Amino acid sequence: MRIAVIGTGYVGLTTGTCLAEMGHQVTCIDNDPEKLAKLRRNVSPIFEPGLQELITRNAGAGRLSFDDRIGPAVKDSEVIFICVNTPRKSDGHADLRYVEGVARQIAEHLCGEYKVIVDKCTVPVRTAEKVRQTILRYGADETRFDVVSNPEFLKEGTAVQDTMAPDRIVIGADTAPARLKMMEVYRPLVEKTGAPVKMVSVRSAELIKHGANTFLAAKISFANLIAHACEEAGADALEVLEAIGLDERIGGHFLCPGIGFGGSCFPKDIAAFGKTLETLGIDGMFVEAIEKINKQAIERFLRKIEKELWILDGKAIGVLGLAFKPCTDDIRNAPALKVIDRLKAEGAVISAYDPEAMENTRKAVPEIVYCADAYQVAAGAEALVVCTDWEEFKHLDLARVKNLMRTPIVFDGRNVFNPEEMRGLGFKYFGVGR
Ligand code: UDX
Repeated sequence: MRIAVIGTGYVGLTTGTCLAEMGHQVTCIDNDPEKLAKLRRNVSPIFEPGLQELITRNAGAGRLSFDDRIGPAVKDSEVIFICVNTPRKSDGHADLRYVEGVARQIAEHLCGEYKVIVDKCTVPVRTAEKVRQTILRYGADETRFDVVSNPEFLKEGTAVQDTMAPDRIVIGADTAPARLKMMEVYRPLVEKTGAPVKMVSVRSAELIKHGANTFLAAKISFANLIAHACEEAGADALEVLEAIGLDERIGGHFLCPGIGFGGSCFPKDIAAFGKTLETLGIDGMFVEAIEKINKQAIERFLRKIEKELWILDGKAIGVLGLAFKPCTDDIRNAPALKVIDRLKAEGAVISAYDPEAMENTRKAVPEIVYCADAYQVAAGAEALVVCTDWEEFKHLDLARVKNLMRTPIVFDGRNVFNPEEMRGLGFKYFGVGR
């Protein structure tokens, strides 16, 4: 099939590349000249495991190309995916201006055969209806088209794997031709992986995405609530949560306490869902509680640091991990940045290391010292603060770390280390909920 993918962020580039890998003829469109220049050399502008190989292979095979013009790709394609960002407005609503802008451009070029326009980005319920109205308003062409919702469930760091071997494929389509076209898009993947397809209404699909993200964020905030209770009561949150998660109805995934969730999706999607509830006339208290606990998680952590170290002014503090989670270079809404901001404001002298996210962080926070590895961060440090649970931190030579530090104090915001082992080695150790 001939497919256009508009927007080459994490979602668009992964989706477009994976659709090409399924055998489709894909054009990815972006209006950012810097990104496009890289893509035209078949270089991925983002770090995402497996993505570069797929880009190289599919571009090489002539199935994947990149362009900055929407017109030709829309004219030539049977299916057009909208994958632009839907950032958070200051009032919490999703900002849909890019979706609307793309819908208007699609409208100008819609001609020929029946086409399916697919909303892939996370949007509030009933956005597809607005996209349809926009296309009708600005297109006024006789081309028949349908707007479909096909939410993505990809996680950064495993985006390719999540797309090529999904837990489920959700297709929200209200007409038979749209359903058929979407089944055609995913047939190669369904035949290969047996992934279940949930064919639902457009509105249901839109709600599934916001609902799923809200539930996942709720699990994290629940874990952080239990961690707080454990700290106050003198219990161990990991023991408690592991046992809770063994109940099949609950499940053990996404029950790790820490310094809260960040990233490009959860914070904005949860806020947008709260606003959607408000629009629907429903009390948003559930969403508010998730957000409140998430903020408290990082605040409690900072208070622990301030309480133990007392005066931060002039203290050498090492930060391990900058990305909002492991296996990505993404620092959007990364808890580490909030920690650094606060420590800096108190006058701490900060050095940091992250296996992938240092280039991005350097642009945002140029005034701290960036180190070549965790040991360099530890050298002379009066405390270490772990903000991301990178696998490599789990394999550090802790005795060496301790010897390098001036005062061996560790604040572990992701429970990377074992408290007993740390204390046994002579560290003063603070985990979350332990
Ligand atoms: C998320 C959703 O998982 C994905 O389905 C959706 O499409 C986009 O948003 P992503 O933003 O890549 O994906 O990150 P995710 O792996 O979900 O982690 C989000 C944050 O929660 C990270 O900061 C992570 O460190 C934190 N987290 C996760 C916890 O604090 N505890 C956990 O148990 C799990």
